[in-house]
Amino acid sequence: LPRKELFDNRYFKSCAVVASSGALRGSNLGRTIDSYNVVLRFNNAPTKGFESDVGRKTTLRIVNSQVVSKEGFLQSKLFENVTLVVWDPSNYTSTLEDWYHHPEHQFFTNYRKYKTKFLKSRFFIVNPKSLWDLWTFLQSSMIYRIRKNPPSSGFLGISILLPHCDYVDVFEYIPSVRVSRRCHYYDRTDNPACTFGVWHPLAAEKLLSYFLNTANDTSVFQTGFIRIPGYQVTQ
Ligand SMILES: *[C@@H]1O[C@H](CO)[C@@H](O)[C@H](O)[C@H]1NC(C)=O
Ligand SMILES: *[C@@H]1O[C@H](CO)[C@@H](O)[C@H](O)[C@H]1NC(C)=O
Ligand SMILES: *[C@@H]1O[C@H](CO)[C@@H](O)[C@H](O)[C@H]1NC(C)=O
Repeated sequence: LPRKELFDNRYFKSCAVVASSGALRGSNLGRTIDSYNVVLRFNNAPTKGFESDVGRKTTLRIVNSQVVSKEGFLQSKLFENVTLVVWDPSNYTSTLEDWYHHPEHQFFTNYRKYKTKFLKSRFFIVNPKSLWDLWTFLQSSMIYRIRKNPPSSGFLGISILLPHCDYVDVFEYIPSVRVSRRCHYYDRTDNPACTFGVWHPLAAEKLLSYFLNTANDTSVFQTGFIRIPGYQVTQ
């Protein structure tokens, strides 16, 4: 396991979270996204072939355990030379040991293989308890009850970056005028539930994030990002 924490004592000016949303299609945001100090992407979201809309830079990738447990994971170029963070949900009351023996997707095998193949790689595992801490924080900010599933990787990504960035700009998380039924910019899956959520408490996450937003309406709804000030600035 890594000896140092992710971003151990490191701070950045600008951080971008690139949601995989279909609304990025035709956005022409590639250059803007590449200008950030840190660029976070998710799962299999490609940059190749989509550079003009999503950019080419990737600092960090958050992947779910399903992606890591798949056979092609070790071969895919997408996961080479980037910092990786994997999460897998535990039951609310599980201990770390229960979870280790019964993860939702058995990703530990590929985790070990990857670390053996790429000795110098930086590959972190999210403590599943921290997903529930994040859930508790989200629930405590809402007056209605949210469903008891961990927040999305988008929200997880924001929470990982906020302590280390002056500001975190989140692209196409709050849907802009380009909103469509398309789930991802890179495939044809078509389902409005991708924007508003079925399994993750996505509506609550988005309401809270929009509440924290400091960018103006043109930036949010035309350009397509919200800006959340980092902890250093908020203090
Ligand atoms: C990753 O870095 C190594 C060493 O610099 C290089 O040989 C390899 O081609 C890189 N892989 C990708 C996908 O960029
Ligand atoms: C979590 O709950 C499910 C359903 O109740 C159960 O099948 C599973 O074994 C539990 N996992 C752990 C790690 O306790
Ligand atoms: C909104 O913010 C952007 C970026 O800071 C700025 O360029 C633009 O002038 C602002 N627009 C309005 C209407 O205030």
